[in-house]
Amino acid sequence: MTGEQAAEDAVLAVEDVALSFAGVTALDGVSFRVEPGTVHAVIGPNGAGKTSTFNVICGVYAPDRGSVTLGGNRLTGLAPHRIARLGIGRAFQNIALSGRQTVLENILLGRHVLTRAGVIASGLRLPSARREAREGRAKAAEIAELVGMSRLLDRPAGLLSYGDKKRLELARALAMEPSVLLLDEPVAGMNDEETARTAGVIRDVRDRTGVSVLLIEHDMTLVMDVSDRVTVLDFGRLVADGAPDEVRRHPEVLRAYLGGALGETDAGTDAGTEAGTGAGTEAVANQDQHQEDK
Ligand SMILES: Nc1ncnc2c1ncn2[C@@H]1O[C@H](COP(=O)(O)OP(=O)(O)OP(=O)(O)O)[C@@H](O)[C@H]1O
Ligand SMILES: [Mg+2]
Repeated sequence: MTGEQAAEDAVLAVEDVALSFAGVTALDGVSFRVEPGTVHAVIGPNGAGKTSTFNVICGVYAPDRGSVTLGGNRLTGLAPHRIARLGIGRAFQNIALSGRQTVLENILLGRHVLTRAGVIASGLRLPSARREAREGRAKAAEIAELVGMSRLLDRPAGLLSYGDKKRLELARALAMEPSVLLLDEPVAGMNDEETARTAGVIRDVRDRTGVSVLLIEHDMTLVMDVSDRVTVLDFGRLVADGAPDEVRRHPEVLRAYLGGALGETDAGTDAGTEAGTGAGTEAVANQDQHQEDK
């Protein structure tokens, strides 16, 4: 995985990023920093600009203004595959895993971005290519262990449970050995038990590899549980940025999630008795429900 020193250098800085689509403002001067070795969540209501932020970081969209740097290197303007090679790993929600291929093979697919031996060297079975293949398998096995899938290495991905499929997507992104791992709604559709397992994996990624995790998630229990820092977007603008406890109580955050209802509803009455969940968490939980209904 990324060494300590490499992780040290890998601050991801989003600076004054603006993006619009045919007159619709998706992002309006968004700035935040993802510190090395942290879990950093980006939250906000539907359409707030969370996925757009990821797309700008990955180079899928060029921003109208602003820049993204990793360890001081400018990513903005580079092609997505170059950005991936520079250390931004993304678990794509909608890129299908190869169902007939095994867990191991799927993780190895994620590594191709790193593989130096070209097609010709591999085809000729040159020693360099054989060594790379051996190292690749060892690394893939290590990643499988990290995501709790060691016993499933030979299972075709198509036969995995929903939760394991999602964690395999995460493993595949880790196989690129990124400095920063981008996860867009990694627990969407999961039950509580599966969510808790994935939360454990996210923590392990941070604690055991030093890779930073930038996480978009509507599940506020997960966000408050695993994040070191939380950035809140609303209508493309940053409305709060801080530790989970600060952000949860931030008036702008409550307003963003509750909209006009803040004045009418006593947020405390809505069965908000679960320890550690404030009004904001309740509001966001409702948002989450809304999201799943879509
Ligand atoms: N490709 C696109 N073309 C046009 N408009 C877009 C496009 N992508 C995003 N938008 C608009 O930009 C805004 C931000 O969208 P984005 O997908 O970033 O929100 P989000 O925070 O990820 O929302 P959600 O929680 O629903 O996933 C929305 O108004 C959305 O309609
Ligand atoms: Mg989104």
